[in-house]
Amino acid sequence: MRKLFAACVVALLPAFALAAGGHGVALDKADIDLTDKAALQDGARTFANYCMGCHSAKFQRYERVAADIGVSEQQMLDNLVFTGAKIGDHMNIGMKPEDAKRWFGAAPPDLTLVARVRGNDWLYTYLRTFYDDPARPLGANNLMFPNVGMPNVLGRLQGRQYMGCKQVQVVDGGKKQYDPLTGTPLTHEACDQLVLEPNSGQLSPEAFDDKVRNLVTFLAYSADPNKLHMQRIGTYVLIYLAFFFVFAYLLKREYWKDVH
Ligand code: HEC
Repeated sequence: MRKLFAACVVALLPAFALAAGGHGVALDKADIDLTDKAALQDGARTFANYCMGCHSAKFQRYERVAADIGVSEQQMLDNLVFTGAKIGDHMNIGMKPEDAKRWFGAAPPDLTLVARVRGNDWLYTYLRTFYDDPARPLGANNLMFPNVGMPNVLGRLQGRQYMGCKQVQVVDGGKKQYDPLTGTPLTHEACDQLVLEPNSGQLSPEAFDDKVRNLVTFLAYSADPNKLHMQRIGTYVLIYLAFFFVFAYLLKREYWKDVH
C-alpha cells in the first residue's frame, strides 16, 4: 500500500511542477479556414474598424482585397475605407510613425505580413490575452507581449479581463487530468490566471473568440494572398490529372491491344 502511495505521488509530481511553472504561455489554436469568405469579410471589417487607426497593411490594395474576400468594390469603399482612399490605393494610414512612437512608446508596425512573422496561433492568443494593469501607462498589459505599447483595443467587445485566481484543470505532460474514480476534472487554484469578469463585454466569450479568429483569418490571408489561388489551382491540377489518367489508360490499352 505504501508503495502504491509512493508511486502515485511520483506520478503526480510533474503535475505539481507544471502547476507551479507559470501561466498560459501555451498558444491557443486558431484553427482558421482561408476559404471561408464570411470569416475573411468579418475579419477585414474588424481590421478596418479596430486596427487601421494605428496599423497599415501597406502591401495590400483595397481592390485586390475586395476581389479576394468576395465583395464588390462599392461595398469595399462603403464599409471598409474610412481614409478617403481610392479603390486602387494601398491600405495606408494617416498616423505618422514619429507621433505614434511618442504616444505609445513604440510605433505600431505594418501588419500585412505579421501572420508570417508571428504565426496564426500567436496572433489569436495575443489578441485575446490583454488584461487590466494599472501599472502600465495605458492601463493594459498582455500575456504574449509583456509591457506591450498597444492599448486593449478589443476590450469593449471582450469585457474586463484581469489577473486573478481561479480554479484551473491540472495538466500533466500536455494532458488534462481527471479523477480516475469519478471522472471529474482535477483542479487546483492558480493565482496568475486571466479572469474575465462575467457579462462585462459586448460579445459572449465564444462570439469574441470567433471575431478574433476571423480577424486572424484575414491577417493570415493578407500575409499570403496567393495561397488562396494556389489552393484553387492545385485542385484544378488534380482534377486535370484524374481526367488525364483515364485517357492515358485508354490509350495504353489501345497500344497494347495487339501485343501478346
Ligand atoms: C491605438 C493604436 C493601436 C490600435 C488601434 C491597434 N494597435 Fe496593434 N499595436 C500598437 C502599438 C503601439 C504596437 C507596438 C507595441 C510594442 O512594440 O510595444 C502594436 C503592436 C501590435 C502587434 C505586435 C506586432 C509585433 O509583431 O510586434 C500586433 C500583432 C498588433 N498590434 C495587432 C493589432 C490588431 C490586430 C489590431 C486591431 C484589432 C490592433 N493591433 C490595433 C497600436 C495599436
